[in-house]
Order: sequence, then C-alpha cells, then structure tokens
Amino acid sequence: VDEDGTRVFDLRMRAGETEFEPGRRTPTYGFNGSYLGPTLRAERGEKVRVRIENGLGEASSVHWHGMHLPARMDGGLHQSIAPGATWSPHWTVDQPAATLWYHPHPHGVTEQHVRKGLAGLFLLGDERTDRLALPKKYGVDDLPVIVQDVRFDDGELDGGRNIMQSVGFLGDRTMVNGTLSPYQEVGDELIRLRLLNASTARTYAFGFPDGRSFSLVATDGGLLERPAAMERVQLSPGERAEIVVRMRAGERVVLRSFPQDNYGDVWQRRFAGGDDSFDVLELRAAGRLRTSPALPAALGEPETPDGTDAVRGRYFDLKRSGINGRAMDMGRIDETVTRGTTEVWTVRNADGMPHNFHVHDVQFRVMEVNGSAPPPALRGPKDTVFLPNGTTMKLALRFDGPADPDTPYMYHCHLLYHEDEGMMGQFAVV
Ligand code: C2O
Ligand code: CU
Ligand code: CU
Repeated sequence: VDEDGTRVFDLRMRAGETEFEPGRRTPTYGFNGSYLGPTLRAERGEKVRVRIENGLGEASSVHWHGMHLPARMDGGLHQSIAPGATWSPHWTVDQPAATLWYHPHPHGVTEQHVRKGLAGLFLLGDERTDRLALPKKYGVDDLPVIVQDVRFDDGELDGGRNIMQSVGFLGDRTMVNGTLSPYQEVGDELIRLRLLNASTARTYAFGFPDGRSFSLVATDGGLLERPAAMERVQLSPGERAEIVVRMRAGERVVLRSFPQDNYGDVWQRRFAGGDDSFDVLELRAAGRLRTSPALPAALGEPETPDGTDAVRGRYFDLKRSGINGRAMDMGRIDETVTRGTTEVWTVRNADGMPHNFHVHDVQFRVMEVNGSAPPPALRGPKDTVFLPNGTTMKLALRFDGPADPDTPYMYHCHLLYHEDEGMMGQFAVV
C-alpha cells in the first residue's frame, strides 16, 4: 500500500522453465515466477494499481477478467504492452467479493500466451462477505484450484490441435495450479474450492465419484443468494465456481471431471472433449478434522440487474466464423451502449459446436435458458456462460462504468482458439 492508500502490485511477465515432471525442464511463461502468477487480493472500495513489466520477447497484454473497470484499464487488445515496456493500470474496486482472474489478451495469440502459463487469480473481498461463516483461510480451507489441461511432447508443452478438434487444443492430462497429479492435505470439515477453468478449450463437469453433493456458493462474479446443493458443476473456459465440500476424517476423495451429455451429437462429444474424464485433485483429510461452522443460509444480495428496466435488446449469433456473421475487426466498434442503462442480450449458439460467451466489464444475470428459468449454477453473477449447440440465453446487463466512446470493451467466445480466429466483437459505453 503506498502513501495515498493505493494497493500496488508488481507483475513481471517472463519466459522461463518449469519442472512439471522430475528432471524435465519445460519452457514456459509466468508472472514473476516461471508458470502462472501470484494470487492478487483487494477489498471493495480499495484503489489498486498494477505495474506490469513485459519481460517476454514479444508484445502481450494483461486483462482483468470479471473486473468492473474503465475500458482503458481493461487490458484487452487495445492496451498492448511492448516487449520491455511497463503498463500501470489503476482503478477502484467497485463490485462484490468474487474469484476473478487475469490473463493476457493479445490479438490473435491469446491462446498461446495463456497455454504457456500466463494466468493468475484476483480475489476480491467485501466487508459483508468477509464476515460470513465461509471457509476463508487461504491455502488451508479456502483453496485456489486453477485447472488446465496439458499434453507434453518430449518435455515441451504441446499446444498443437488435432484437425478434428474444432474447439481448439485439448490436452490428455490436467494440472491444478501448475502441478501434475496434485493432492492437498486438509484439516477442516468444510473445504472451499475456488475453481477456475483456465484451460483454453476444454469444458469440465466437476463432481465426486462417490456421488456426494457439495454446496455451490459463488459463480463468476460472486455469491449466490443462498448455497445450492449439487453433484456436478460444469465450467467452460474462463468460468469460475466456488464450492464447499464436506470432508470425513481420514478419507481421500478425488475431485473428478465427468463426461458431459450436453455437447451435441456423438461426434461433438468425442472430438470436443465431452466424453473425457479426469481425476483433477485429490483431497486427503487428516485423521481428526477441525469443526467448521455451518454454512450461512443466506449469502449474497444480488447486484445484477433483473432486466425489468431494460431499455433495449440486442442479439448475438455465435458461429465459429464470427459473431453476427462478422469476424473481429479491431478498428470497428460493433455495439454502442448507453452508460447507466440496462439491456437484455439474447445469445444463441447457431453453430454445430460448443461455444461460450464472455462480456468484459460487467457481471450479468442469466434470465432464461431456452425459454426457462436458469438452473442454480446460472443464478449467481456471471461474466461467462457456456452455450452448447442449440442453446439460447437471455442475459440482463447493466453498464454503469465511465463513458469512453473511443475505447471499446470486448465480448467473445472464451474458447481461445475461436477468440483468436475472430469470434469476438467490441462495444463502447457512451
Ligand atoms: Cu478472459 Cu476477453 O477474456
Ligand atoms: Cu474478460
Ligand atoms: Cu467458440
């Protein structure tokens, strides 16, 4: 924290080597270290500044995924950082407690930069949430779980795509926080997992092989109104979920990703990864566990709009070839929204393959999925949603940031290969 009360973070993007497997050095990228980046934390109301030095041999950028902030600070394609240069965005945190993340967003090579290891968590707190009886000892009963799929080719991270894999790169193993075959020893009855799907193309359906249910407490942008018991939570690239799992003394339980049945036809399931399963993280409980307080019955108060005051609707047709029939053009602003208003966006997967939809700057509410009320996993604040083939969603979004007609934000498919290939558009707040 500096003299005027601003919380300052230093990040250096660098190339290095990581020993994922003993005795094998793999070339990677990282923030400060050789792979991934430090977990940043700030409280609602706090001023933050991040000094980012680009120590890579190529241009990149750093985007604050899920953060409500001025477009010039967003770190998208228009805030490129040249090799050797430093960029210092700053803003005031003005949103509820949440599990956000940061990653590069350079035009056309985002997939590559993320795949090489550039990603980290940005956790936000707020007074009300900090007082709730949720597990909150970071690294003890409140665990960051950054999930990525990888494939090694002779010790190198292989980012190659099989031509059948129209969703992008799919690995044959998973890592948590950059660790292969990970396990975590735990000593509390209730364990909170902050799940981030930081994979570039793969969607997961997390659950436990013994069928136990867990409580979903938060989605992308913060807490649900109340905990929701479930057995599976599906996360496409970029999405987050906070779940609380009850442990039994002495047990070992594996967080697994299961095959998914909402991927479209047999071929899509097979080649888009929907048939795969992975053991993601083993939790090893101590012989005696510390008692955890029961989860609160009420968690958050929704700050996302319900759509009743919407002043306009827009339609987004998702296709691999582009959104609304157009591929991304950095010089074109596709949509202009009015500051302080609410809109309803109808997003439709009009394609033969899975996509998702991410909007910068806002946390939105899912009003409808194929004409029905959303399931519990889509009832919290969201900035990214998975749209399997044939899905239509209605989203309510409120744009209350500062106006800046010249600097757009992005919306895009967060399957990074699709994004890089042009499944992205730009909106400006005026
Ligand atoms: Cu997580 Cu536009 O990105
Ligand atoms: Cu984003
Ligand atoms: Cu896509």
